[in-house]
Amino acid sequence: MSVFQLGGGSEPGTRSDIVRDGAFEFLSRRGLNIATRFLIDALPKASPGRALFGLDTEGAAAMAARTLWPAAAIEWTHLDAYVAQKVGHVLAMNGIDDVPAHETEDLPDGPFDLIALPFPATSDSQLMWDLLEGSHDALAMGGRFVASTDGKPDALRKALKKVFRNVTPGTIGRRGGASFYATRKREATALSDRRKVVRAVVRPADGADPVPLDLETRPGTFAYRSFDKGTRALAEAWTPAGEDSVLDLGAGCGGLGLYAALRLPAARVTLIDSNARAIGCARRTAETMDVADRVRVAVRADFEDLPRVDGGYALVLANPPYFGDFRIARSFVTTAHEQLREGGRALFVAKCGKAGDALSEVVADTFRHVDVSERADYAIVEARA
Ligand SMILES: C[S@@+](CC[C@H](N)C(=O)[O-])C[C@H]1O[C@@H](n2cnc3c(N)ncnc32)[C@H](O)[C@@H]1O
Repeated sequence: MSVFQLGGGSEPGTRSDIVRDGAFEFLSRRGLNIATRFLIDALPKASPGRALFGLDTEGAAAMAARTLWPAAAIEWTHLDAYVAQKVGHVLAMNGIDDVPAHETEDLPDGPFDLIALPFPATSDSQLMWDLLEGSHDALAMGGRFVASTDGKPDALRKALKKVFRNVTPGTIGRRGGASFYATRKREATALSDRRKVVRAVVRPADGADPVPLDLETRPGTFAYRSFDKGTRALAEAWTPAGEDSVLDLGAGCGGLGLYAALRLPAARVTLIDSNARAIGCARRTAETMDVADRVRVAVRADFEDLPRVDGGYALVLANPPYFGDFRIARSFVTTAHEQLREGGRALFVAKCGKAGDALSEVVADTFRHVDVSERADYAIVEARA
């Protein structure tokens, strides 16, 4: 039996999952994801020449594949650099140094002989369709697709049938877990264009003319097909003060940073996000807005090695994520503080209530001067370095 340790952290996990009739044991803190378990069980015995894994947050299926097929070229991908970095560490921790884990805006260029991806029931259906079509086209003719889920197997089966025109069940579990196979048989591309350009009109509180924004969004980005209310609240609350440099942390598809670029025609604006697809959207929107010469975009896993400006940024804007234990939001705040010049301003937004209170506290811990206001049920937290 091959034993793998999942997850990082200082303490090794003690939960054990035994998969594929005892071929693999995975030790983790929370247990192996059901969709991943079905995926590993469904992997064929015969080795493909080139195989693609990804979209999970554990790297478990890619590690199992490495053992099953010692001669195959295997890669792992995700839209998000933070997840890719984490999985890269897990692979390294288990002594696997020949499976690159990288972030890509779209699936890497094929042709692959096999692609194996999990589609948890909670995943966005537009993203599922997008990735199924992308997988179809990244496979070699006759190449095999293995898909799994932890719920709603019927939706996955139907989608596979529609994209590949064929589908064979693998294992169907009792509680919604399932795996399926499909084969690429068609030359023609299956790609649909799921890009949506969102039109938002920002009405600045300082009385300036409304600013129309046309932002490209794609499945798997924040916020696909919409302009977030928190983003709007922050954009409308912020009053430009002639800043010459702006950093948009966790820029997503670029709503805040690109709005700032329009309001500050002389400013240089930097947009950072861990999601490679979101940053791709932001880069193309900057081009269509004709501000690309002043806007730089970059994908970073965890704000490492950020592009700097001499003396520090004059302004940081951020609409951080608030899931989990606030660790990520806290790192947004400390990064903003590190990147600002003396006297520079940072503005953050969170929904009023628990998130807003926690954000205000974290900002007050880091900055000396903090000012909290409310706008459309959002807390706008402004701080000066
Ligand atoms: C709430 S969304 C806001 C997006 C955008 N600023 C807006 O207002 O529409 C938070 C963004 O932070 C990004 N993010 C999360 N963790 C990150 C990290 N460690 N490094 C960089 N970006 C991160 C997410 O990918 C997401 O795009």
